[in-house]
Amino acid sequence: MILVVGGAGYIGSHLVEELVKTSEVIVLDNLSTGHEKAVDPQAIFVKGDLGNERDLKAVFNNYPIKAVMHFAAYSLVGESVTDPLKYYENNVAATLKLLKVMLKYNVKNFIFSSTAATYGIPNVEIINEDSRTQPINPYGQSKLMVENILADFAAAYDLHYVVLRYFNAAGASGSGRIGEMHDPETHLIPIILQHLLGQREQISVFGDDYDTPDGTCIRDYIHVTDLANAHIAALDSLLNAQNKTATYNLGNGQGYSVKEVIDTCEKVTGRKANIIIADRRSGDPARLVASSEKIRQALGWKAERDLEKIIDSAWKWHQSVQ
Ligand SMILES: NC(=O)c1ccc[n+]([C@@H]2O[C@H](COP(=O)([O-])OP(=O)(O)OC[C@H]3O[C@@H](n4cnc5c(N)ncnc54)[C@H](O)[C@@H]3O)[C@@H](O)[C@H]2O)c1
Repeated sequence: MILVVGGAGYIGSHLVEELVKTSEVIVLDNLSTGHEKAVDPQAIFVKGDLGNERDLKAVFNNYPIKAVMHFAAYSLVGESVTDPLKYYENNVAATLKLLKVMLKYNVKNFIFSSTAATYGIPNVEIINEDSRTQPINPYGQSKLMVENILADFAAAYDLHYVVLRYFNAAGASGSGRIGEMHDPETHLIPIILQHLLGQREQISVFGDDYDTPDGTCIRDYIHVTDLANAHIAALDSLLNAQNKTATYNLGNGQGYSVKEVIDTCEKVTGRKANIIIADRRSGDPARLVASSEKIRQALGWKAERDLEKIIDSAWKWHQSVQ
């Protein structure tokens, strides 16, 4: 049985929907930002908190867990700057509780949701896993801290783990059952689509004078089902191969500018966006694009869905829940 912590959230619920096809799954989530209805009905759902050893022990006592996938975290960059305690407490201290209980129950396979924010402002065009990690906010720091803890635990306690550093997750399941439901929503594609559905008056583009071909920031978008499949490949590598501990980037390998994303949303929806150009936000690098070559070579995984497919799936989802 696989324990998915944070499996009621956006990315976790998409992973669970894929994973139940081949494994027994139990989800632990406190529903602080997630939704119980997003959890696939084939999975067992337990409402509980990662930072509460009693909740964790109840799960490990009652179910034969052989691996843990850990999606549960706070992930609003701005909030992490104004309230770092909240981020270090949930993303680092609570994760330590989970690792401690795992070791107590001799569960040694772990998959961790990390982020492009661990790289900070990159000094290279295409980021690979050996690129410098220098986070510029407490959110990115909290994820890098856990990565460092995992390396020490692997050396000391024989923990096997895969760190997956996601770039921008986007899109919705092909089933039509789940999609992106963050509140507040801070991600570009859902914000544009909500605007095109009349739920927001306009879209702010933060800076059009960056050193990029059209002046807007370039980011790497990856379909959430592609992300889910990467987790399943990583899980296979942990369970079926000896010591596959590794850190991988997960991106599409292709960057798109904010303007290109807006243009593609207009194309997919047949609607016109009302855009205003706002000031740059501090800490926004001009370009964040991943090389996912390492996981392609090691596990044979690559992103299958391009930007148009990502937006098309998200558009169907947003229309269905408006
Ligand atoms: N969305 C992205 O583009 C993106 C990019 C990079 C990394 N990530 C990481 O991926 C993971 C999932 O992101 P998401 O967008 O699905 O976020 P989300 O907020 O939708 O999901 C997080 C889930 O964890 C749960 N949770 C949080 N704290 C908990 C706790 N203490 N105990 C139990 N459950 C708890 C929430 O209720 C929620 O269901 C996060 O770790 C995030 O940092 C996301």
